[in-house]
Amino acid sequence: MKDFAGKIAVITGGGTGMGRELARQLVAEGCNVAMCDVSAENMAETKRLCEAQKLPQGLRVTTHVADVSIEDHYKRFRDELVEQQNTDKIHLLFNNAGIGGGGSIVNSTRESWERTFNICWGGVYLGVRTFLPLMLKADEGHIVNTSSVNGFWASVGMGVPHTAYSAAKFAVKGFTEALINDLRLNAPHIKCSVVMPGHIGTSIVANSRVIQNGDAALSANDLLATRQRLAGMNIDTSKMSDDDIRKAADDRARSFLEDAPTSAAQAAKIILDGVKAGKWRILVGDDAHKLDVRVRETPQHAYDPEFYQSFAREAGWRIG
Ligand SMILES: NC(=O)c1ccc[n+]([C@@H]2O[C@H](COP(=O)([O-])OP(=O)(O)OC[C@H]3O[C@@H](n4cnc5c(N)ncnc54)[C@H](O)[C@@H]3O)[C@@H](O)[C@H]2O)c1
Repeated sequence: MKDFAGKIAVITGGGTGMGRELARQLVAEGCNVAMCDVSAENMAETKRLCEAQKLPQGLRVTTHVADVSIEDHYKRFRDELVEQQNTDKIHLLFNNAGIGGGGSIVNSTRESWERTFNICWGGVYLGVRTFLPLMLKADEGHIVNTSSVNGFWASVGMGVPHTAYSAAKFAVKGFTEALINDLRLNAPHIKCSVVMPGHIGTSIVANSRVIQNGDAALSANDLLATRQRLAGMNIDTSKMSDDDIRKAADDRARSFLEDAPTSAAQAAKIILDGVKAGKWRILVGDDAHKLDVRVRETPQHAYDPEFYQSFAREAGWRIG
């Protein structure tokens, strides 16, 4: 797909981060956008930012509250889209919504593990299930599924168990790679891409806590996970109170947003350029490119502490 003007794009997780920036850049190129998120307030801000760009005549930006892990929400989103965008087709589907958390199959609650998995994988799967029929009716289409570097490397550092997110992101990558041929055989006017960002400056750490726990407070599991993460960075937490741990977690969320090598706006541009160039595989950020090379060079060592430490030094990562 060479340009987006006059097309209709669906974006999941349009409330903040990369979803918001995708919406802004698509609208700036004259593309209609229908987004969903669990936060109506954040989507209202995304819509305001899009409209501040002075929309071309007739261009539509619609917002829809929907949890991507729930199929009935998706169906409602689709029905609202058909009515409010006055269409029976879409051209672009960005399955972008995602959260962290539920890292340990040993210590995390089953509920929190499955919440992460069902959003990060189920949200992508149900997104394609729900919107494929509308894309089949368009003259061309492109499905863009957001995985992560955790779609080819299942870790974020030695002190952090990361099973639910990694399992989901590997699933997104495998599904999208298999889709290439399925679409080529059965719906050749539709292409697909898997997006694998490195560290992008967004509020995903803070947002995930709210979506996992219902508010911004740390659960008992979060406290344990934060202690483990700090211990993995050789910090002695034995004399740290729970309040000290809460502060360390808040500092991490802030630093994840502010100290990232790639911004959400830069990431959105890389994704959209990748779609226009017809790339099925879109790595986002120098760190993602470097990690991709390293994992291929020495797969057997990918989960050794030295592998992470050496990569983190090279990429400037401080997120493990
Ligand atoms: N930020 C990074 O470093 C990074 C790296 C690799 C991959 N990713 C992936 O990129 C995608 C976008 O993340 P981001 O960093 O922009 O984070 P973000 O938190 O800024 O944006 C994610 C959005 O998805 C929404 N969301 C979460 N759960 C939802 C649900 N069940 N239903 C509907 N909406 C939901 C959130 O409310 C939020 O608005 C995610 O899939 C994430 O896993 C992020």
